[in-house]
Amino acid sequence: MKLLITGGCGFIGSNFIHYILKKYSNYEIVNLDALTYAGNLENLKELENDSRYEFIKGDITDEKLVNKLVKKSDIIVHFAAESHVDRSILSSGDFIKTNINGTHILLEAVKSASRRNGNKRFHHISTDEVFGSLKPKSPAFNENTPYDPRSPYSASKAASDHLVRAYFHTYDLPITISNCSNNYGRYQFPEKLIPLFVTNLIEGKKIPVYGDGGNIRDWLHVEDHCRAIDEIIHNGKIGETYCVGGNSEKTNMEITRAILKIMGKKNREIEYIKDRPGHDRRYAIDFSKIKKELGWEPKISFEDGMRETVEWYKNNKKWWRSIKSGKYQEYYKEQYGSPE
Ligand code: NAD
Ligand code: TYD
Repeated sequence: MKLLITGGCGFIGSNFIHYILKKYSNYEIVNLDALTYAGNLENLKELENDSRYEFIKGDITDEKLVNKLVKKSDIIVHFAAESHVDRSILSSGDFIKTNINGTHILLEAVKSASRRNGNKRFHHISTDEVFGSLKPKSPAFNENTPYDPRSPYSASKAASDHLVRAYFHTYDLPITISNCSNNYGRYQFPEKLIPLFVTNLIEGKKIPVYGDGGNIRDWLHVEDHCRAIDEIIHNGKIGETYCVGGNSEKTNMEITRAILKIMGKKNREIEYIKDRPGHDRRYAIDFSKIKKELGWEPKISFEDGMRETVEWYKNNKKWWRSIKSGKYQEYYKEQYGSPE
């Protein structure tokens, strides 16, 4: 089986490549990644000499390259995206280009390759953020929840989901979509809540909580997410969407306290800062469809997953220090006006 992975040098994509090559000895993977600020070849260093793995530096908006790579693949798993809400608030051009135009170019390539070389399976990785913001007591998002994106990031992901579904209905492309909740685990770029807080604390810096810290996310360990994608690409029903969640709704303050406790730090490390504009209050996922149809449910408890994740960042300082001393620092300054 030949897989084309887009965005495989990012957080979830690199975890997925490790997961697949460990599980399926006869699978081959081509990883197409533009190596934006978020892409990191270090995530896949162990695979450099694995004959089943090939890295291609390139952009998903490069039609010619995408056409060539899609033709040679059986399954395309599309992770590549601009993925950070705060960045999309500062500047959204790249979000439109990669998340919408890039997905469109991939779909066109799948459409023309499927006509000539038999069907290509396309799986699109999306987010629960396309559904908007939940009230405290509202039922969790499911596959029938209407779309209501509220940030440039979530709007661009929503647009790409609509395109993927349109290509199923209009051209019969064999697609599936998964909308998952907030992931955490190894190789997550330290601009996102959990790795930012863990690495700041290791560096003796403050941890910036937005607003009152009462916003809720449903946390999913990246390994559980990889298992869900594996189930969907092999056993999912064509044309269907699957919501994937961690059964672990937590306020940002609960996450903050959990991290402080694991790391033996005190509340005084917290710095309450200006809230994110349009900050979605709550996300939660009802994953009963994928549980019923594919037998998937999250296995890693939040407590175990967090302990393991903190340990990983403690043991891999070289990985995140090189990131934090580079472009990330400039970004932080631009956002908050002063160094951390
Ligand atoms: P990430 O930002 O860590 O990685 C994105 C990767 O895509 C990087 O390697 C980057 O170099 C690559 N990329 C960006 N633009 C590209 C382009 N034009 N061409 C080729 N490669 C490009 O993202 P992530 O957190 O791993 O997220 C992966 C996917 O999962 C995204 O589609 C995101 O929307 C979705 N998602 C993420 C989360 C989460 O909690 N991280 C939750 C739900 C959904
Ligand atoms: P983030 O990891 O950026 O993911 P998303 O916005 O896609 O959910 O943020 C998770 C939550 O943590 C969100 O409510 C914003 C909040 N947050 C902070 O309070 N401080 C921070 O420095 C960051 C990055 C996020």
